[in-house]
Parts: sequence; C-alpha cells; structure tokens
Amino acid sequence: MDEKMTQTAASVSIDARAEICQALNQSVAETVVTTMLAQNFHWNVTGMAFGPLHEMFQKIYEDHFEAQDELAERIKALGGHANGKLSEMVAASKVAEHDGHADDKTMISTLADAQRTVAATLAGAAAIAEAHGDLLTQDLCIERGQTHEKFAWLLSAHLG
Ligand SMILES: [Fe+2]
Repeated sequence: MDEKMTQTAASVSIDARAEICQALNQSVAETVVTTMLAQNFHWNVTGMAFGPLHEMFQKIYEDHFEAQDELAERIKALGGHANGKLSEMVAASKVAEHDGHADDKTMISTLADAQRTVAATLAGAAAIAEAHGDLLTQDLCIERGQTHEKFAWLLSAHLG
C-alpha cells in the first residue's frame, strides 16, 4: 500500500509506526520536562507580579500535564511503547531542567523558549506523521504545536 495514502492507526506500516512513535515519545519527553519547568516556576516565582505569574504558570503546567497523556496514549493507539522513565525523558529532551532560582523575567523567557522548542518538536512530529499518511497523529501534533506557540506569545508579551 502506498505510504502516502491516508491511513488509520491499524493500517500504518510497522516501520512507519515506529518512526512516528519515536517522534511522539520525543514530544512527550519535552512536554514532561516543560510541565515541571512551569510548576517549578509556579512555586518559586517572586516579585510584584507574583499573583498573575503564579496563575499563568499553573495554567501552563495543567495544560501540559493533560497533553502528556494525550500524546502518550496516541503512541499506545499506534501499538507503540510510551516511555515514562523520567531520567530518559530528561536526557532526550531539548528543553533543559531548571533549578528554579531565577528572577521573574528570566523565568518567563526560559519558559517561552521552552514553548518554542516543544512547538518545533511537535511540528517535526506532525511532518513525520504526514509523510506516512497518519493524519490523526498529524492533527494532534499540529494542535499541540499551536498551543505551545500560543503560550510562547502569552509569556513573551510580558517582556515587551
Ligand atoms: Fe499551586
């Protein structure tokens, strides 16, 4: 069957599924690290904008926590293994961990950069899914990528 035809999970070839699942596991890893980054900043942010920043960081980590699950469960729908090992996720992630010691502006710019990084990873995953005709995975990755770019804007708007 032509790889580029529209495919559902069951009809995507085994090799294509492995490639898509690898891209999805990378997306999960970066989403997980960014979840913790946002919650870490939610806890440790200080300054006159404490209230709204504390709230915004919470909105972000709550969104990301649900997204981890959606992405990982898409891997399962494709018959793959969802890698939930934290040490491997941190090692694979292009978003780095943070110790939470930073001023509010540094937290905002660090988290905005993380959003752009995850958006790029998801755009790459969407392209891999598209190349194999897996439009349903492509749609999920596009939706998540758009959400991360929205958060990048929300965060960056604070910095003028
Ligand atoms: Fe809290």
